[in-house]
Amino acid sequence: MLVNMKEMLNKAKIEKYAVPHFNINNLEWTRFILETCNEQNSPVILGVSEGAASYMGGYTVVSAIVASLIKELNIEIPVALHLDHGSSVEVCKKAIEAGFTSVMFDGSKYPLEENIEMTGVVVSYAHQRNITVEAEIGSIGGEEDGIANETMYATVEGAIQLSKTGIDFLAPALGSVHGLYKGEPKLNFERMLEISQTTELPLVLHGGTGIPDEQIKKAIACGISKININTELQIAWTKAVREFLETDKNVYDPRKVIKSGEKAIKEAIKTKLELLGTIEQK
Ligand code: 13P
Repeated sequence: MLVNMKEMLNKAKIEKYAVPHFNINNLEWTRFILETCNEQNSPVILGVSEGAASYMGGYTVVSAIVASLIKELNIEIPVALHLDHGSSVEVCKKAIEAGFTSVMFDGSKYPLEENIEMTGVVVSYAHQRNITVEAEIGSIGGEEDGIANETMYATVEGAIQLSKTGIDFLAPALGSVHGLYKGEPKLNFERMLEISQTTELPLVLHGGTGIPDEQIKKAIACGISKININTELQIAWTKAVREFLETDKNVYDPRKVIKSGEKAIKEAIKTKLELLGTIEQK
């Protein structure tokens, strides 16, 4: 069932678990994620970056693949199709028109007033169409889709101001980074809790790869209701495929190659569902 993120994240906030956002890259990954989450009765968010949408052939292609897989595979869990880090109002509108059920507008590269103004435009467009909106405050560090950013911690005041645009969820940059960490992540849990209590919004933790399990649990206790995971699945899948190709030097069927990473990616997904507490939460 394709839904927006409102109900799934509000439930997660109240019941103190986090819904996984897994980034998708192609048809097969989408299938692996949907099948695993359906087996475990876990709601799921399929995150699509602008780069992934372009790689897969465009927003309407992604939307059609997801809708068709849900139908053909008899997926019964709530599934949200979410634009990850939409960089402009136009791209958010495009994703919504293509059938995405949720969007993130990432105005973190703009001064706060401009971020607020553009986020407000996205909220008004999205809410008229029953689409949910996530916004970013501060700047999440690391590298994703070839775009590198410095970490800039979110402030409570900035979070309060951005929340007044009517957004449904807030992603405050509090020390997590996209991709791999150099050393231990240094998350500001105190501020996370304060932002959660003052804005009362379900919070989103980006850069879920490489955060130790205890810190993930602490983040959920401090108000995180959605955790974005991308790199970790990429590493699990690629490692298995690399081993397969090294073992079988004669293989050339692309279906066999892509499928050789299925078990590893599905195991990585299941481990995350257990950690986040979403099994049987559909
Ligand atoms: P990782 O690649 O670090 O897991 O982060 C994913 C993410 O935050 C997508 O928005």
